[in-house]
Amino acid sequence: MSKHLIAPSILTADFLHLEREIELVNRSEADLLHLDIMDGVFVPNLSFGFPVIRQIKSIAQKPLDVHLMIVDPDRYLEAYRDAGADWLTVHYEACTHLHRTIHRIRELGMQPAVSLNPHTDVSLLENVLSDLHMVLVMTVNPGFGGQTFIPKSFDKIRKLRRMITEAGAETLIQVDGGVTEENIGALIGAGVDVFVVGNTIFSAGDPEQVISNLKHK
Ligand code: DX5
Ligand code: ZN
Repeated sequence: MSKHLIAPSILTADFLHLEREIELVNRSEADLLHLDIMDGVFVPNLSFGFPVIRQIKSIAQKPLDVHLMIVDPDRYLEAYRDAGADWLTVHYEACTHLHRTIHRIRELGMQPAVSLNPHTDVSLLENVLSDLHMVLVMTVNPGFGGQTFIPKSFDKIRKLRRMITEAGAETLIQVDGGVTEENIGALIGAGVDVFVVGNTIFSAGDPEQVISNLKHK
């Protein structure tokens, strides 16, 4: 059985019953809890901030995988650590001094990751690849849950997997957007290690069962 990880994204969960949704993830076979932070500038949507993250952290039993879709994330790295982030992902397109940002995240005790929008080529990470815990390949244009997976992402994932192997690095590959029970098998085959899954889980009649199905592919 594959050792891949499942990270439910609560962006499309029931926010009127958020505690119940977090406890569902706690009970499930999920490995991480994915939090989407949107500032209305880097992406055309707003999600939630530090007060909500802190409260989620107070009941979450899985590590927080925090995905920053914000401009100039350097301003808030300590604040995300203090709010409870375990893995912290910044976007390549939002960081002028990416090498410094990656090392600052690690210095603060979090696992550093970089996300690439669908149009951004993986070769741009060549000089920082081995400094990274993970690379997040966006498989939709960021900003909304429930979108359709971009098929061309497979080429990008395979190219990144080759880069990591050739560099002798242990960097994980994560995908985010449009992951389903139908496409996860092929994605595992292409070399993906970590799967963010939102709508597929939280729109299901039995989300815990869907998490188990995804985990046992
Ligand atoms: C989109 C977010 C994703 C999203 C995934 O910008 O980064 O995490 O919530 O949701 P689904 O699985 O519904 O595409
Ligand atoms: Zn995300």
